[in-house]
Amino acid sequence: MTTTLTLIQPDDWHIHLRDGAALSTTVPHAAASFNRVICMPNLVPPVKTTAEAIAYRERILAALSNSDITNERKAGFDPRMVLYLTDHTSADDIKMAVESGVVSAVKLYPAGATTNSADGVTDILGRAPVFEAMQKYGLPLLVHGEVTHNNVDIFDREKRFLDDVLSKIIANFPALKIVMEHITTADAADFCLAQGDNIAATITPQHLLFNRNHLLVGGVKPHYYCLPILKRANHQQRLLEVATSGNPKFFIGTDSAPHATHTKESACGCAGCYSAVHALPLYAAAFESMNALDKLENFTSVFGARFYGLPVNTSSITLIKKEQTIPESYPYLDGKSLTPLLAGQTLAWQQV
Ligand code: DOR
Ligand code: ZN
Repeated sequence: MTTTLTLIQPDDWHIHLRDGAALSTTVPHAAASFNRVICMPNLVPPVKTTAEAIAYRERILAALSNSDITNERKAGFDPRMVLYLTDHTSADDIKMAVESGVVSAVKLYPAGATTNSADGVTDILGRAPVFEAMQKYGLPLLVHGEVTHNNVDIFDREKRFLDDVLSKIIANFPALKIVMEHITTADAADFCLAQGDNIAATITPQHLLFNRNHLLVGGVKPHYYCLPILKRANHQQRLLEVATSGNPKFFIGTDSAPHATHTKESACGCAGCYSAVHALPLYAAAFESMNALDKLENFTSVFGARFYGLPVNTSSITLIKKEQTIPESYPYLDGKSLTPLLAGQTLAWQQV
């Protein structure tokens, strides 16, 4: 039985670090495990320009330098920035982003799809000049793949996005690099498999470990609520299959998304699971459930770097098979708290 796992240092290709005082919690948490992190731009207001992305990166690095993590981890951590696509983003904005060397991708949130997405795109196919420029420069488009029409059931929104939107973007821009972010359905997994090498997908720990019963049976459990919402068990099973298949199209993206505890445990609770601290033990549990721990390293540390055209990290981390109890909460913001995914519960693996 495997009791120690040494992995090439992982990267996180989808994380929310937020801004301001939140960074003193989220940045050291992320930097303890990850080198490159793709920082989501859904701040208030969103990160829409290269100048804003550069300034945001500086704030993240300041929080890193003020934290008490090791110098080795400080040196390894490399936040990569993302522009938030709006109805006003231009081809010139894309050129500037590429030339900056700081912006690694552009994020498409359909307007209203999730937390702080009110400025998202309303006319996606009207963004043709932007997609053309991204295709030309090889800048990846990261998609939150859900339609947002009120008449589409929340459990069908991902599938509808594939049929109504993503297929059209791919048909019009066949060489555009696209990451289907945090996929949640067998439909999305199989759609990704049917595309060329320029289309990949990230998968979160929660979508591998849980299904909608975890969210809803026995009472509403707000800490399992994220978007896209957890689906049926058959979808969870298909995600486990593709994540552990060794196919380089599927790689890590935690979507770790902090919300203060009281804003999740509320009559209108926020969407997002906070997993930054224990993401790797969570993924290890998922891969072990499929008897596929030998496939974990490529998923966490190789396939994403390859997709983004970056070198694989040279440092490593170690996981051991030893039970840990996830903390009930972390201090967050001014006297508030942050409840992690699986708070108070036991995990079989820990990072040392
Ligand atoms: O659950 C989610 N939380 N999904 C998202 O797409 C956004 C994220 C957040 O920013 O909180
Ligand atoms: Zn996200």
